[in-house]
Amino acid sequence: MELQGKTLTFRKYFIFFIGQMFLASILFSFYNFTNPSTVNNEVLPISVLQEPTNKSKIILVWTWPFGDRFPLNECPPYNDISGCIYTDNITLYSSADAIVIHHRDVCYSKKRLPQIPRPPNQYWVWFNMESPSHSPNLDIMDNLINLTMSYRADSDIFSPYGWLEPNEQEENFTIPPKTKLVAWAISNWNPHSKRVQYFQKLKKYVSVDLYGRQHLDLPRNEHENTLSKYKFYLSFENSIHEDYITEKLWMNALTFGCVPIVMGPSRQNYERFIPKDSFIHVDDFSTAEELAKYILKLDKDEKAYQQYFTWRSRLHPIGHTNWQTHYCRVCKALKEVSAHKTISRLRAWYK
Ligand SMILES: *[C@@H]1O[C@H](CO)[C@@H](O)[C@H](O)[C@H]1NC(C)=O
Ligand SMILES: *[C@@H]1O[C@H](CO)[C@@H](O)[C@H](O)[C@H]1NC(C)=O
Ligand SMILES: *[C@@H]1O[C@H](CO)[C@@H](O)[C@H](O)[C@H]1NC(C)=O
Repeated sequence: MELQGKTLTFRKYFIFFIGQMFLASILFSFYNFTNPSTVNNEVLPISVLQEPTNKSKIILVWTWPFGDRFPLNECPPYNDISGCIYTDNITLYSSADAIVIHHRDVCYSKKRLPQIPRPPNQYWVWFNMESPSHSPNLDIMDNLINLTMSYRADSDIFSPYGWLEPNEQEENFTIPPKTKLVAWAISNWNPHSKRVQYFQKLKKYVSVDLYGRQHLDLPRNEHENTLSKYKFYLSFENSIHEDYITEKLWMNALTFGCVPIVMGPSRQNYERFIPKDSFIHVDDFSTAEELAKYILKLDKDEKAYQQYFTWRSRLHPIGHTNWQTHYCRVCKALKEVSAHKTISRLRAWYK
């Protein structure tokens, strides 16, 4: 996500939410590529609204992230939220066991943080899916936060943009029919950014279809239909940071069945989350021209192209994440957290 890309991102969340409502037959289970653990497949989403008891942990959503509302107390089944009540009712602040603070909604003023004295034993959960480049005023959080929740794998609550899960049995993955070569959907067009400059070089040697604001139209409900026709998708992140791998990889490339060409953290960093033979990294090539030659070579060599899908017999991507995916993780973390702790300086870590 990025500031100027909010419209597209919001649209995506909206589409995916609606999609999820209708695709309740989609099986969901949790799988962390670096630390495999699965839960039984079940139908998504299930509603687990429950009567509050005086033992329930109250989790207060301090602000709706970027103003986006979503159903509370409705979670994917791999998140056991029994024993927790999520609420956005600020008047419950004093009895809340945890409050979830979305960084970008509060970071411009300390006044946006709770002003009344903090109840003892209350956890403040810092939530942020933006990269450090788009997370100003981290200092405002010094000595206030007890738990972090972000895409960073070493967060207290690791909540990535997507992940892989094992298939129940070996599968023959069918590559979507391909009629086009390379696509890129970009909403935040900054001519000075590394990714746009790289693209300008790349397009001299291979044609790339651009979607997004000021480019080809990509209607709300046509993302999959449009992008899946491409053999390759440019999953170029807006900034380069450890573990910062967004829906550009998980959704636009992997979920839609395109081979991702990534620009982001190192290849080694990507390989912590996805198999090494599932993607192409711009760093694999000394120049954009070399990458273009490789793309054109794969375009003529069907066998070699198909090699990028062999991992699909074992694994499948989960790219349909939304706000609930993240907030729903707080309950479990709260039940498991053992010791009191405070994060003294976010900035020292989040960079
Ligand atoms: C918020 O909680 C207070 C205290 O329980 C309650 O009186 C009030 O009706 C709630 N507000 C909403 C909008 O649910
Ligand atoms: C996958 O395809 C291979 C070769 O066509 C075939 O032998 C195998 O039975 C198929 N496996 C499944 C699970 O369909
Ligand atoms: C959270 O951090 C605050 C601020 O340092 C601290 O006073 C509080 O005891 C911590 N709470 C928990 C539950 O760890």
